[in-house]
Amino acid sequence: MRLLLILTFSVLTTWTLAETANVPWRKITNTRLPTNLYPLEYTLNLTTFLPGYAWEANERDLSFEGTVFIKLGVNETTNKVVLHSDSLEIYNAVVNDINSSNLTVTTWEASPEDQFITLYLNREVNSDEQFEIIVNFSGKLRDDRKGFYITKSTRADGQEMLNAVTQFETTAARYMVPCFDEPEFKATWQVNLTYPTGSVALSNTIEDGTVTSGNFTTTHYKRTVKMSSYLLAIFIGDIQYKETTTDSGVRLRVYTDPATIDQVDNALNVSKIVVEGFENLFGIKYPMEKLDFVTAYDFAAGAMENWGLLVHKPNFLLGWGQEVAEVVIHELAHQWFGNFVTMKYWNQIWLNEGFASYMESIGYSFIKPNFDFDHVSVYVEVFLHVQQFQFHLMQQSEAKELDKSIPLNEMTYTEDGSIDIITFYYPKGSSLIRMLEILVGKEIFINALSSYLLKHQYSNTEDKDLYDALKEFHQPLLCGPEEVDIEEFARCWTHQNGYPTVYVESTETGVSLTQRKESPIEADFRKYEECGNRWDIPIWYQEAGSDNENIQLKWFKKEDNELKLTVQEPVIINANSYGYYDVVYSNGLYESIAAQLKNNSETYSDNSKLRVLIDVNKYAILDKVPVHNAILIAESLLNDKSIFIRANAERALLKAKAKLEKQKETIETDIQVIENRPTESPNVNMFSGCDSSETFLECYKRTFDTNLDACLTFEKDKSVDTTDRLAAWLKSDKSDESRQTILRLLSCGDIETFRMFVSDTSYNWTPFEKELIVGYFKEYLFEKKNGSKEKKGKKASKSRIYFDEKSMSARQLLSTQH
Ligand SMILES: *[C@@H]1O[C@H](CO)[C@@H](O)[C@H](O)[C@H]1NC(C)=O
Ligand SMILES: *[C@@H]1O[C@H](CO)[C@@H](O)[C@H](O)[C@H]1NC(C)=O
Ligand SMILES: *[C@@H]1O[C@H](CO)[C@@H](O)[C@H](O)[C@H]1NC(C)=O
Ligand SMILES: *[C@@H]1O[C@H](CO)[C@@H](O)[C@H](O)[C@H]1NC(C)=O
Ligand SMILES: *[C@@H]1O[C@H](CO)[C@@H](O)[C@H](O)[C@H]1NC(C)=O
Ligand SMILES: *[C@@H]1O[C@H](CO)[C@@H](O)[C@H](O)[C@H]1NC(C)=O
Ligand SMILES: *[C@@H]1O[C@H](CO)[C@@H](O)[C@H](O)[C@H]1NC(C)=O
Ligand SMILES: *[C@@H]1O[C@H](CO)[C@@H](O)[C@H](O)[C@H]1NC(C)=O
Ligand SMILES: *[C@@H]1O[C@H](CO)[C@@H](O)[C@H](O)[C@H]1NC(C)=O
Ligand SMILES: *[C@@H]1O[C@H](CO)[C@@H](O)[C@H](O)[C@H]1NC(C)=O
Ligand SMILES: [Zn+2]
Repeated sequence: MRLLLILTFSVLTTWTLAETANVPWRKITNTRLPTNLYPLEYTLNLTTFLPGYAWEANERDLSFEGTVFIKLGVNETTNKVVLHSDSLEIYNAVVNDINSSNLTVTTWEASPEDQFITLYLNREVNSDEQFEIIVNFSGKLRDDRKGFYITKSTRADGQEMLNAVTQFETTAARYMVPCFDEPEFKATWQVNLTYPTGSVALSNTIEDGTVTSGNFTTTHYKRTVKMSSYLLAIFIGDIQYKETTTDSGVRLRVYTDPATIDQVDNALNVSKIVVEGFENLFGIKYPMEKLDFVTAYDFAAGAMENWGLLVHKPNFLLGWGQEVAEVVIHELAHQWFGNFVTMKYWNQIWLNEGFASYMESIGYSFIKPNFDFDHVSVYVEVFLHVQQFQFHLMQQSEAKELDKSIPLNEMTYTEDGSIDIITFYYPKGSSLIRMLEILVGKEIFINALSSYLLKHQYSNTEDKDLYDALKEFHQPLLCGPEEVDIEEFARCWTHQNGYPTVYVESTETGVSLTQRKESPIEADFRKYEECGNRWDIPIWYQEAGSDNENIQLKWFKKEDNELKLTVQEPVIINANSYGYYDVVYSNGLYESIAAQLKNNSETYSDNSKLRVLIDVNKYAILDKVPVHNAILIAESLLNDKSIFIRANAERALLKAKAKLEKQKETIETDIQVIENRPTESPNVNMFSGCDSSETFLECYKRTFDTNLDACLTFEKDKSVDTTDRLAAWLKSDKSDESRQTILRLLSCGDIETFRMFVSDTSYNWTPFEKELIVGYFKEYLFEKKNGSKEKKGKKASKSRIYFDEKSMSARQLLSTQH
């Protein structure tokens, strides 16, 4: 799943539907099912009464009814069948007695506090038996974005259409169908859907026959591969598709409402390349005949990886944004990591999400050559200068911000007590996986993953299975004369919250390292000090002047008080930012690193330089190192070859100076380190050259070579003429491209102007435009200058990064181009 950040400002309409299920708040206990029985095969027949299509709406509006056949195997003798079921009306529960086994259900009862129904049998069943139960049930489509629920789309003519869609992860399959709703109970599903003629129905697998009979149509779908219940999916609604086929013959479709069908090409292209890429990388074919994406306007997450039917919020599927590619890749990676091989239970969800996040950079490398860079935002244009490993740098930064209260292996709960997935698992899981990859080597790592996937296909794993797979391909990790066991190494990173800070002092022969937990900690952190708040830290280091590729490794064992390194030249610890830890140097070391960087900045790799820059800035802001160290390092990188590094240095310098500004009265000496550079910008009126006969796009394209140029100009433009013109164009020019270009342009300016435009209902923002607006607000919240950065719920944006590309790049480009 791809999470969405919760915005305090919401432009989306929240539709309320009186007739949908309005389930009263209830504490959910998540009692585990008994393991006496397990499902082998489900056969589901479901009729959905969705109004607005070809049937006469009646009292069954917004409801569904179904029959599920569940074939069961017996693990241990029992005389009852316990299933998950919540908010469903059960009409009938029987044993399918075609084999005349005399087995019957004597009675059944629901226990809502456990979300169970229990079927009592007339006798015990034994471990050599198989039998099938049939449960007949109905339910209401919900309005709370979980289970089987209502979402809406708008047709080009303004007519609103209802769609019905599922979102089951983590524990909401039980709201649509009685089942064994835990990830380890994998089984196959054969689904038959009956739905109003005129709507389109989708499920996980390819359709295998459709019969229309008057106002209702029935489609049956092929049986799925063996899978967990949370991956079952259904969509019914007003949608169209575009289609392609992968080299290996998988039918790929992207579905969306008719109004946005012309915006699916990029997602279609990206997904074809990425499916083929992952199939080749792991040597494992995507196992079903088709894979669909579909948009849902009201969706609790950003996107969901249901096997063969991926549901996305429109802004993560339509158009050209980098996030579209990133989220598409993330969900496709789950088809292998999550669907093919699944965590045993939700306390290991970091395996699913860590891997999907880790795979984003790999997937991105498949599409890079074909990616449509012309249409992406400023953020991405700067990203062009970024190598794929910098995905990991961002994930590390994000993880460190979120890594406060719980370790990776702890399960969290939502307010109502059901199992939650929080953003934190994604970047920290990915950062740990990245360390494992570097430790064993990329090639071995990919081979081990491929073997892990094959070994556990259609089954479930816990982290130990991953370590075992790595160990099969790699001897224990060497640590001087000692060995480091992979599992023992990983344990301190998965079972403790936070991460270490490594302090570096110079000695006569080199440097000496100590470790301490400085990471922000919340009150209850003491629960999680399994390794005494120490870690076995792989110390990757790079000496000045050594070959860029020549990064060395020494282990800093948790039992040792210090680690001594013998080095001649200034050394960067956590070289290439391979490790999930911070590094703080003594003052003298910062001076020699800065001198080295200034004289010959090619002496270290880009990611080593970024690591020093980011860490010193962070600790200066926290008052843990003198600010002038941050200024020294930042200034030494202002002329770096890489625009990305220059941009980060510029940004870091501004931050450090702002910090210093605050200390002005007390630290006179530090102020002398600062040079004051004028930052006056000339008066700008960016559209003054437009001819009144020109359309917006004609003038825009004539005036600006790239969106970036326009954006940078708009940032400086304070003229009323410009806002007046934009307002007039928005009212007169109905083309999607114009309106979306204007929106993006507006998002480059100050937040007040942006808010003024988007909150003006007379512009009739479409649902898709509202989605874009939400995305831009997210950028304001997390990437703009001094915006409300601290405003962050537990669900934070994935694109939140410590070094803020957007604003700094703008500034950097302004100062370097022309
Ligand atoms: C069978 O039951 C045993 C003992 O309760 C349990 O450990 C095991 O996981 C069960 N197997 C399945 C497939 O449910
Ligand atoms: C499944 O649904 C179809 C269409 O409503 C119906 O004809 C059929 O009898 C149903 N099957 C069962 C077993 O309920
Ligand atoms: C689903 O449809 C198939 C094909 O029409 C049919 O053979 C099967 O009996 C149906 N299943 C149910 C549960 O009705
Ligand atoms: C089909 O729906 C239409 C209204 O959309 C209604 O007039 C007609 O009676 C329905 N047909 C049947 C067989 O229910
Ligand atoms: C089912 O019950 C009938 C009558 O009690 C009995 O004759 C028959 O042998 C039973 N069949 C099985 C398979 O147990
Ligand atoms: C009936 O018995 C056969 C043979 O043992 C078995 O394969 C099948 O699954 C059984 N069907 C049901 C519904 O129990
Ligand atoms: C399911 O319930 C409906 C409505 O009560 C009934 O018409 C149908 O016959 C039932 N089907 C089964 C298989 O029990
Ligand atoms: C998608 O791919 C096709 C064929 O390679 C190409 O013609 C088209 O321009 C691409 N569209 C986008 C939006 O990338
Ligand atoms: C600067 O770097 C050059 C090599 O690039 C080296 O010869 C020179 O000694 C360095 N100067 C200082 C002051 O470090
Ligand atoms: C932050 O925003 C406020 C209000 O827009 C402004 O007064 C202040 O100068 C800004 N600070 C920085 C560091 O940009
Ligand atoms: Zn995910």
